[in-house]
Amino acid sequence: MRKLAEHDKSRVIDLLSERLAFERSSVRLYDAVIEKLEASNDERALAIVDELRVQRDQEQEHQEWLAEEIRALGGDPRVTTELAELVLRETKGIEDVILDGDDQLPHLLHGLLAAELTDNAGWDLLLALADEAGDREAKRQFRKRLREEQEHLSFVHLAMTRLAFRTVLGEDVEMPTTV
Ligand SMILES: [Fe+2]
Ligand SMILES: [Fe+2]
Repeated sequence: MRKLAEHDKSRVIDLLSERLAFERSSVRLYDAVIEKLEASNDERALAIVDELRVQRDQEQEHQEWLAEEIRALGGDPRVTTELAELVLRETKGIEDVILDGDDQLPHLLHGLLAAELTDNAGWDLLLALADEAGDREAKRQFRKRLREEQEHLSFVHLAMTRLAFRTVLGEDVEMPTTV
């Protein structure tokens, strides 16, 4: 991260803090979705819950890694930077759906899909910056986590699609259990 941070350390810390705020929110979202699905007696919901637990733990690892990187650059992961603040405002709508009112599987998957699309774009931006700055180590670390995010997105997307095949087209298709 050193080479990337050489350009403008406070902006790099701001971007890492942005992802950190998002990953913290992701853990809360996954915890709530898992709890709601486990409490339901819906076999479509129970089919996907094991994979969601794997994804939740990866969000947790991302969160811990980002906090460590911010500290290594001399930043404070407890500080809400400008971009972290933006993320908190943006994610309010998704948290409103998932943490509060809704228990229906289609709504929960809809919210998770919106979160994963944004998260993928965020990690992709970090990777592009590290690449442009020629920071090979940062690139390796960002790419590893972007790949995990791509799997999250694929799984949630697949679950949404299968659910729509069932509910809209009346097809008898299985819910996915893994990516
Ligand atoms: Fe994430
Ligand atoms: Fe994710």
